[in-house]
Parts: sequence; structure tokens; C-alpha cells
Amino acid sequence: MRSPTPYAEALRQFAARDVLRLIVPGHAADPVAVPELAEFFGEQLLRLDVAPLVSGIDLGLYTPYEKALDLAAEAWGAARTWFLTNGSSQANRIAALALGFLGRRDQPVVAQRSAHSSWVDGMIIAGLDVRFVQPAIDLGLGIAHGVSPEALDRALAAAPDAKAAYIVSPSYFGATPDVAGLARVAHEHGVPLVVDAAWGAHYGFHPALPPSPVREGADLAIMSTHKLGGSLTQSAMLHLGHGPFAEVLAPHVDRAFVLEQSTSESAILLASLDLARQHLQTGAERIGASLEAAERLRETIRQAGRFRVASDHFDSPDIVAVDPSRVSIDVGAGGLLGHAVRAVVLRDHDIQFEIATDACVVAIVGPGMRLDVERVAGALHELAADDPEVASAGFLRAELPEPGERRMLVREAAFAPSVIVSAAEAVGRISADSLAAYPPGIPNVMPGEAITAETVEFLQHVAAAPTGFVRGALDPAVAAFRVVA
Ligand SMILES: Cc1ncc(COP(=O)(O)O)c(C=O)c1O
Repeated sequence: MRSPTPYAEALRQFAARDVLRLIVPGHAADPVAVPELAEFFGEQLLRLDVAPLVSGIDLGLYTPYEKALDLAAEAWGAARTWFLTNGSSQANRIAALALGFLGRRDQPVVAQRSAHSSWVDGMIIAGLDVRFVQPAIDLGLGIAHGVSPEALDRALAAAPDAKAAYIVSPSYFGATPDVAGLARVAHEHGVPLVVDAAWGAHYGFHPALPPSPVREGADLAIMSTHKLGGSLTQSAMLHLGHGPFAEVLAPHVDRAFVLEQSTSESAILLASLDLARQHLQTGAERIGASLEAAERLRETIRQAGRFRVASDHFDSPDIVAVDPSRVSIDVGAGGLLGHAVRAVVLRDHDIQFEIATDACVVAIVGPGMRLDVERVAGALHELAADDPEVASAGFLRAELPEPGERRMLVREAAFAPSVIVSAAEAVGRISADSLAAYPPGIPNVMPGEAITAETVEFLQHVAAAPTGFVRGALDPAVAAFRVVA
């Protein structure tokens, strides 16, 4: 039996009524009001575009919206769930603000250094004092993995007045740390564990997938349901665990949610969260077929022998599982440049990979999607190592730089008087901005950190790559930096 989708169903029923909409949005679901919209998106999308606060949808006693939230909480094993319409970026800012409300203002948060840049935005907005814990770094592949319970234990012991711990699981590449162990350590130190599980919304919904971090003891879990949960882009969820901090955290999250919420949340995005929850709960067979296809793609790559499956070589003791829905292919092993491969296979084969580094491309096999394994493997193997457009020969790979020395608190540096200087002049100065090579969007420089020559070189190198982008940069080539005056 299909589980109900109360919010989506209430919205659908409202859209089916012939309501004269003298209300925003101004297109009024009238196909002739803004014909461009109706022609482009179809009339049904306009009818579903309903402003908030409608009786029988999200206004009244125990509304379909609240029922949908409860069903989501139950599905992920949470005490409570918040639906979000601005991604895990919004969830990170809410989490940071909630931790800002927790305890005393001067108590630090111990946080994984390789977190997403939206967490750094949250740290600035909330004015958090953060002590960083370093994840294991895979220098060969140029990626950061996870934090071990032992590393978190040491970091919390070194910051006895810390009020919370924050980690990321899974990583962009699917590396999954021991969340249960991390939660145990955090709780032994008397603090809640926040898990940025932006990439793990599907965890727990198939026996081949690792468990949901909420069920492993996370006190708050951030999820981009749109990434691997099946909902529409920008929709996300924040889950409150059942652990010892639920009661104290809930009102702080409620307050932070109001500060970060649009007063015109998209009903379309919210409905997609309700529908994605149902898909995950009832789609084990479809999800299993996708996971099998992902495994077939890995096996095809291994058998052919030219490239390597990068996750086969994740040898960090900090990783306890790897997300099987991600296929990370080390095309560098076959003489190709990841960034160039990603651009060329989209142009020539209509195949779009999620991420590229110098060495790798990563395919995301969304839970439930069908995958033509031969098409993907064939397109990659067709690329010749002597084709200058994609060859890695002669290309200088940039090593992931070590973070520069921390000289000021994140917020202090972000709000300090600042000046804009050239890249050459920026070396040795304190950054006022957060700059993150995208993907994966992990800041290489944070406000308050010294800018190093290696970091400048790395960021300019990423910016110059065909699919590279640096979030927070002042210009596309990263020729200038904002530094503390
Ligand atoms: C670890 C992590 N957290 C948060 C985010 C932000 O998520 P969203 O794009 O849903 O705002 C991302 C985005 O890639 C991410 O990788």
C-alpha cells in the first residue's frame, strides 16, 4: 500500500479547484496572465504554485503540512523534522544559529574543518567561535574524507568548554565516518552532535545503504533531500534526533528556522519533499535496481582495467562505509583529466557527471534512476589519452592546500574593516572572505585564516579549469582577494 502524502495531496486538491485567485503569486494560475510561464512550465505547475497559509493545507488544526512533517520525522527516525526551501545551505545556517542560542555566547563549537561553505556562512551569521578538527585527507585524490571518533574525542578534550560538535557525513565522494561512534563521543563530552548529511538523505532506505545518521545518534541532521532523496532542487530537511539534547535544541531550532525562513515558501518544493519521502519509503525495489546498476558500472570500469574506481582505494581508517550510489572514477589513471572529461562527455555524449577533480569524475546514481551502464563506460573509454583536449599528460595537478594559519575568529575577520588587494599582495594577509573551490564547496580559505601562496595557486587553478568555480571569489579568475585591513 502507498503511504499517504498529506501535504502534496491537499495541494493537488486545491489546484484542481476553480479558485479565482485574487492573491499572490500574481500569475494567479491564469494561463493568459503570464503566458510565457504557462507555455514553458505547463498550466498544472502554475495551479500548484499556491502561497502559504491556506486552510486545509497549512492553516488550521493539525494540518496536512504538519502531518507531512510528522511522517518525514518518522521515516528518518527523528523526533521532529523541518521542511526547508533553500537547501542544506539554509539548514546549515539554521543549525549554526541554533547553536548560537545554545549555552553561552563565548562557548566554542568543535567543527570539522572540511565543512561546506554554507556552514561557514552560518558561523559568521551566528557569530560562533569554532575550534576545528581536521578530517583525514587523501592527498593522491585531492579530497577530504571524514573525522574519526578518536579525533573528535581529542578535539573536544582540548576544548572542555565546547557546547556542540559538528561533522559531515557522508563526504561529497560518499566516504562515511563512524557516526554512531562520533555521537557517542560527543555525548560523553556532554555536547550534541550536528551532522551535515546533505549527501545522505537516502541513507537508511535500503539494506545496501548505511543507516540514517539520525538513527545513529545525531542530534541534528541536515539533509539536501533534493540531492539523493528525490525531491526538487533546493528542497531540504532538518531533523532533530531523539537523543539527550532534543528538548533543549528544539526551541532553538524553531527560533533559528523563523530567522532563516522565507515567508513565501514554495508549495511546489514542499510537496516534493512529501513525495520524496514516500518514494524512499516505498521504492526499495527501484532503489535496489539503481544500486545494482551503480555496482555494474564500477565492475565494468574495473574489468576494462584502464581507469580505477577511486573508492576502491579509500584506505582511510576514518571511513566505515562508502555510499554505493556514487561511482567515483579515477580517469587520471587512464591518462585523462577529470575536468576535461566532464566537459567533453556532456558536449559529445549528453552525459553529465556530478563532480570533476583533476583526477576523477563522479557519477551519482540517484535512488530509483535507471542507468545505461554501457553508454557511460563506452563514452569514457572512447576518450583517447593522446587527445590534447582531454589528456592529462603535461598538465600540472594542483595539490589540495593545507589551510593557512588561523589568526582571527571567523566572525571577527568577516566584520573587520577590509581592503581588496591583488592575489600577489594577498599572500600572508588575513582573509575576510570564505573561498571554496566548487565542487565540492569546502572552503580552502576561511575568514580569519592567513592566505598562503599554495591556496592562491590552487584556487586560480580550479577557476581556470573548464568546469571549475570558486564560491566567494571577487572575480572569476580569483585575481583579487578581500583581506582584513
Ligand atoms: C556537505 C554539504 N553541505 C551543505 C551543502 C549545501 O546544500 P544545498 O545545495 O542543498 O544548499 C552542500 C552542497 O553541495 C554540501 O556538499
